[in-house]
Amino acid sequence: MTRDTLNIGLFGFGCVGKGLYDVLEHTQGLKATIKTIVVKHPGKTRALPPERFSYDPKLILEDDSINVVVELIDDADAAFSIVREALTRGKAVVSANKKMIAEHFNELLELQRIHNVPLLYEGAACASIPVIRNLEEYYDNDLLTSLEGIVNGSTNYILSKMHTLGQDYAGALSEAQALGFAESDPALDVNGDDARYKLSLLAAHAFGIFVRPEDIFRYGISSIGQEDIRYAREKGLKIKLLAHAKKAPEGLQLYVIPHFIPAGHKLHGIDEEYNGVLVEGVFSDKQFFSGKGAGAYPTASAVLSDLSALTYQYRYEYKKMGRERAGDTAQAASAYDADPLIRIYCRYPAAPEHNHSALFASVEESYSSQAFNYLSGTIRLGDLHRSGLCEDREVFLSVLN
Ligand code: HSE
Repeated sequence: MTRDTLNIGLFGFGCVGKGLYDVLEHTQGLKATIKTIVVKHPGKTRALPPERFSYDPKLILEDDSINVVVELIDDADAAFSIVREALTRGKAVVSANKKMIAEHFNELLELQRIHNVPLLYEGAACASIPVIRNLEEYYDNDLLTSLEGIVNGSTNYILSKMHTLGQDYAGALSEAQALGFAESDPALDVNGDDARYKLSLLAAHAFGIFVRPEDIFRYGISSIGQEDIRYAREKGLKIKLLAHAKKAPEGLQLYVIPHFIPAGHKLHGIDEEYNGVLVEGVFSDKQFFSGKGAGAYPTASAVLSDLSALTYQYRYEYKKMGRERAGDTAQAASAYDADPLIRIYCRYPAAPEHNHSALFASVEESYSSQAFNYLSGTIRLGDLHRSGLCEDREVFLSVLN
């Protein structure tokens, strides 16, 4: 199927779907038309007249004149069915659904290979930042050693508002939802799931190693309190939720966890819904990408770029995974293969059962008062994972650099 002219079938008309519609209206030079828009709920009020919408996926999937499917719905299971069917029918697909792509990564590689069709998903990680295509292409011949960054806009927005305005967590989260940054289920943002889906994809394109999201350690920000923000502020630090990937002699380290970021660090000034990614290569040394990481237009701009890339027959080749193996044997690994020793701050309530020092490999500082107690020191990631501390809503953990 040629793709000089794109005849698009669009699934979903939420924040990003509507954003893409607007962006395409203002784009010249790209020969692209949205032929059919399929949405789920007929009764919903939308920015376009009801006759512009259809409700049956077959109207896109079985329409041979549609050569590109853009999937922008938030139900990852339904999205996978749509994408599988579209690829099987030889249609190119653009998606921004990090959960769906990370959960079905190997199957999606295989579908692309068997049916010889591209699936592009730049909008699935860091929205407006062209990070996937750079990791895939630009660093092809360089030896990347690490990748670290803020990859979730909602949590960064919440943390920024708490830090700069002293806003409370719930209020800042509501704003992130109202601004269209958060997932429909914002638990995915605040518990770190969204960041680990993205980390799984970024690591696959950076290092050619696919690690299933459920095998990546993640700890989010949902138990953060003003006392943690105060602690950071008094020390000139900011708390940011970071996704971390590093090649170590023992294997690939992967985790998502809040970090205290000192002033002067590249990520210190990355606030609100902005994302920032630091990569390091053997020859290129350190490089830094930043841009809006959430929101309708920043995400739509990445989708638009993927659509444009389809017109010149671009596709991910997954070269780092080995051409011959792409699709069926992407290397599996667990984030705990390399079990890094991390320095953390652990804030806990004053109660006798909260005696955590035995979990630490070494304790550096222990502070206790009526209202605020913390321990800092080193701990193995695997020990932290098994400790139960991550599930304790009265505890907050953050990495000290
Ligand atoms: N909920 C996501 C975020 C949207 O806040 O980063 C962009 O992927």
